[in-house]
Amino acid sequence: MEITVKIFRYNPEKDQRGHYVSYTVEADPNDRVLDVLELIKGHKDGSLSFRRSCAHGVCGSDAMRINGRNMLACKTLIRDVGANITVEPLMGLKVAKDLIVDMDPFFDNYKKMLPYMINESPLPADGRERLQSPEQRARFDESTKCIMCAACTTSCPSFWASDEYYGPAALVAAHRFVFDSRDEGASQRLEILSETNGTVRCHTAYNCTNACPRDIQVTKAIGELKMAMVTGKLE
Ligand code: SF4
Ligand code: FES
Repeated sequence: MEITVKIFRYNPEKDQRGHYVSYTVEADPNDRVLDVLELIKGHKDGSLSFRRSCAHGVCGSDAMRINGRNMLACKTLIRDVGANITVEPLMGLKVAKDLIVDMDPFFDNYKKMLPYMINESPLPADGRERLQSPEQRARFDESTKCIMCAACTTSCPSFWASDEYYGPAALVAAHRFVFDSRDEGASQRLEILSETNGTVRCHTAYNCTNACPRDIQVTKAIGELKMAMVTGKLE
């Protein structure tokens, strides 16, 4: 089938502002948007810039707006988005070039959540690992699935309004450790989340949950953090 792909283009070395360029290419309905971008880059315009790495929905590097929705280009089939496709960079982060945004502020917010195990207690007497039950592990299982693609944060109206907001992805990272029975840093993280740019900025728009390519219940995770801040309970 013949498809038309309208792509946002911006080269900071040449362009005052972004503009759109349309490309007409032959594609199979089962091709992915990423395949089509590769085709355009390989055969039509080698200057087209976008991020990709794994091409299998694992690395999170090719999140972009496809027909107005945040999606992974490597997980989006042409047959699901039609023959007229608009591809744009994520919103709310500065465009570095074409479909590439500056992810530094996003990862800065991630780092603020202390996204690593905090436990100063001595190891168990047998000197082996800190055990937890299947139920304790299940408590934070969903938030371990995050691939840091930024689709949630950059679809959040609160983040668009203020990029000082830590954003849903950072909160999911906090959730992953706050509810881990082996971790002892929950109170530190909940203190950080109680700051002006923490959970209070979430207005339950659900855009994050709808955007997540890993089907993580992002809004629910944020709600659980809010509840833990109020009750102090981590079960
Ligand atoms: Fe991406 Fe989902 Fe993680 Fe947000 S929670 S960064 S949408 S994988
Ligand atoms: Fe890795 Fe799409 S290229 S998630």
